[in-house]
Amino acid sequence: MMDAIRVKNSGIVHLKTAGAQNAGMLYAAEAGREIPFAVKRVYFMRGMAENAVRGNHAHRTLTQAIFAAAGSFTLTLDDGATKQAVRIDDPSSGIILGPHLWTTMSEFSGDCVILVFADDYYEESEYIRDYAEFMTLINKKDA
Ligand code: TYD
Repeated sequence: MMDAIRVKNSGIVHLKTAGAQNAGMLYAAEAGREIPFAVKRVYFMRGMAENAVRGNHAHRTLTQAIFAAAGSFTLTLDDGATKQAVRIDDPSSGIILGPHLWTTMSEFSGDCVILVFADDYYEESEYIRDYAEFMTLINKKDA
């Protein structure tokens, strides 16, 4: 079981699962059902070295749902007030990454495949890649 999510603009989502151990498992995600938004983009990542670090950014508007389709990794979430690390190791359980959440991925298993559903197309101007800028934005919002 995954720890409860304590940061803002996040949460746990569960995929529909079918199958049996030796016949393999099937995981299904339907937009507006298991995934709580209309999916416009899907991407996946593989080949991360164990000591690689990815992410290190937040989004201004994007909402995503992130899964380990295979293997495991550590997801670190920071809403500017609360920071939480979650081990992602169950393909059926993913994490919602809403806007204004600084996210880092690390400690990848060798077989790790990360699968992400997003509610919009890729748009670089919508990224916040500077942590100081992220904190300024959070503090302005809370003021
Ligand atoms: P980035 O989001 O910075 O990766 P990560 O946070 O996992 O380290 O994206 C890496 C590169 O891939 C960057 O040049 C932008 C490009 N990219 C796309 O073209 N489309 C996409 O949907 C995503 C997520 C990234």
